[in-house]
Amino acid sequence: MSDPVYEKTSSLYDKYVMQTYPKADIVFVRGQGSHVYDSAGNDYLDFAAGIAVCSLGHCHPAVTAAIREQAEKLVHVSNLYMNEVQPRLAQKLIEHGFDGTCFFCNSGAEANEGLIKLARKAGSEKGRFEIIAMNDSFHGRTLATLAATGRSKYRKGFAPDMPGFKFATFNDFESVKALVSDKTAAVLMEPVQGEGGIIPADPEFIRKVRELCNENDMLLLFDEVQCGMGRTGTFFAWQNYGVMPDALSMAKALGNGFPIGAVLASQKYSHILTPGTHASTFGGTALACAAACAVIDTYDRENILENVKVTSKFLIDKLNAMKEKYPQIQSVRGKGLMVGAVLTGPATPYCAALREKGMLALSAGENVLRLVPPLNVSMADCQRAIELMEEVFAEDAAKNK
Ligand SMILES: Cc1ncc(COP(=O)(O)O)c(C=O)c1O
Repeated sequence: MSDPVYEKTSSLYDKYVMQTYPKADIVFVRGQGSHVYDSAGNDYLDFAAGIAVCSLGHCHPAVTAAIREQAEKLVHVSNLYMNEVQPRLAQKLIEHGFDGTCFFCNSGAEANEGLIKLARKAGSEKGRFEIIAMNDSFHGRTLATLAATGRSKYRKGFAPDMPGFKFATFNDFESVKALVSDKTAAVLMEPVQGEGGIIPADPEFIRKVRELCNENDMLLLFDEVQCGMGRTGTFFAWQNYGVMPDALSMAKALGNGFPIGAVLASQKYSHILTPGTHASTFGGTALACAAACAVIDTYDRENILENVKVTSKFLIDKLNAMKEKYPQIQSVRGKGLMVGAVLTGPATPYCAALREKGMLALSAGENVLRLVPPLNVSMADCQRAIELMEEVFAEDAAKNK
């Protein structure tokens, strides 16, 4: 059946939008809660949430109201002046358990650039500039964050890599220790690797790396772009481990879809980036901060972290039960609502099959089916997601008989 909105949108994309993404065959026109609707009116259960962004679901009324209200008052003045909203957001973030200060920017990659600059500046007087990053990590698409990204396929074609990054094996403490030199400024990791395949850090690994950083005067940097903001069941991902980094990056869920990123530095490193050393025109604009303030207030008011715990247990238990039935599922791992089913082959065909049934899910690594639903997802929607996955695995098993 012809769909004029789809046809028109698709041809405009073909003609005017740079094709850096694989061409999609769907146009979304509306979202509400854990559901999005395409141009033909089909309803999709959204367990991708804009790649772990819409943690309060689509168009949460409190966030929409805050954006609307602020847009009528003041959108942007630049950081040459103060706006009332930026420090309010900083206070909310810090009061959720990170003793330090915040720098605001616009994306995950930009936040990680900030972490890298912070570490280099902190080490500059001692000639320390190297950063030990992890294999299988993902930190963004800018040149510095690509250089810090362990998954080398993303760097292909953009040589030479920015110098100063070394790669250790995630969860292998000795491999980190072996790379430390008098040039090492910091160790950078995602407490739960996202794009790499939903791989949580071992508590012992994180604890030992923290000690190593303390002993060698190096910063411990956490990329919480995907795993932060409640995604893993605690407000900051590091709170799962009780190991506080010296600085961390945030983005994705911070604005529930409104672009905003942040660098949080602990008190010890709060005064490294001095006036003139770092900046971002749109960073901490009143409008973005109003959206993020509404997000955080809603987390607290709606007890989002409790919902993450309950729904996470449900999904992981059900997937583990499915694993016993379907040999395509090797194992289930993750934390909170960052859940991965490790499959015996590529996850992309399963994502496509789920989409056919009206559910959005993601792949991670190559073989991991990744579920990152809104953090306020209902039990009924979790139950539905399990039913749809069960159907897909059952049909796949029948085909391969
Ligand atoms: C852990 C992590 N860091 C950084 C980024 C990059 O964020 P952005 O796309 O907002 O630049 C991502 C994006 O997927 C991510 O998952």
